[in-house]
Amino acid sequence: MRHLMSPLDFSVEELYQLLDLAEDIKLAPAKYAHACDGKILATCFYEPSTRTRLSFESAMLRLGGNVLGFASADSSSAAKGESVSDTIRMISAYADICAMRHSKEGAPMVAASKSSIPVINAGDGGHQHPTQTLTDLLTIRSLKGRLTNLTIGLCGDLKFGRTVHSLINALLRYKDIRFVFISPKELRIPSYIQEDILTKNNIPFQEVIRLEDVLPQLDLLYMTRVQRERFFNEEDYVRLKDFYILNKEKMELAKEDMLILHPLPRVNEISVEVDSDPRAVYFQQVQYGLYVRMALILTLLEISL
Ligand code: CP
Repeated sequence: MRHLMSPLDFSVEELYQLLDLAEDIKLAPAKYAHACDGKILATCFYEPSTRTRLSFESAMLRLGGNVLGFASADSSSAAKGESVSDTIRMISAYADICAMRHSKEGAPMVAASKSSIPVINAGDGGHQHPTQTLTDLLTIRSLKGRLTNLTIGLCGDLKFGRTVHSLINALLRYKDIRFVFISPKELRIPSYIQEDILTKNNIPFQEVIRLEDVLPQLDLLYMTRVQRERFFNEEDYVRLKDFYILNKEKMELAKEDMLILHPLPRVNEISVEVDSDPRAVYFQQVQYGLYVRMALILTLLEISL
């Protein structure tokens, strides 16, 4: 039995197979409409979500399966003090696979260690968000045609943004990847990622504060929101929340084929006037997230047609 805790749980070859399967599902969804007949997905979300929870539920329903779960800790027995370890033992009796989001880093890993069904990390604190990374990789490969030879700008909250941490981990396995980290100094990429991951693997990167200075060199711009829920005080959040606002004027500096990705939700960091720019692919990214989660459910349940 396999779980998914980190994007690195799949080898590069397995990842390509998963992305190929997601693309096939996109092309011929009817072929997969009964692939999970009789199977049940549990979504155990201790933290708020729109995309991840609903795309998992939609994925299982589109595969012919069923879903159950809870959307907040308050509406589960966690509110009475039940541990994640005990909860997953119950869920193992009710469902065939579980997607779990938790504010505590490592909570899905604890669940996996006690589970008799596959557990998927649907985001744990500021740590990892592997299914967002699968979504991002599929989006990049489909729309850019490659996962190699890319200059990738990551902009916004690089300190708390788990989608950024997961994506860096996944991308450094591909050739000729260069990172540009764009953040205020308070939200810099953690030093362990710079030292233990990037420097150790000889991955070139630069850090800047002004987005305008680096926009012309980017193949991809990955925007992120400032993570209000991870700040210790509101004052700091208010001071930093609008540090970056990507608008039409700034987009004039970007390459004609640069893609803008965003894991969403968006707050103010991308002006709505940018949505109509063909380079803004964040709503297409959401669609890819559905197909990749369908592929992931099939893979972890070891269902092949
Ligand atoms: N991208 C993402 O994780 O969105 P949600 O928080 O809405 O699930």
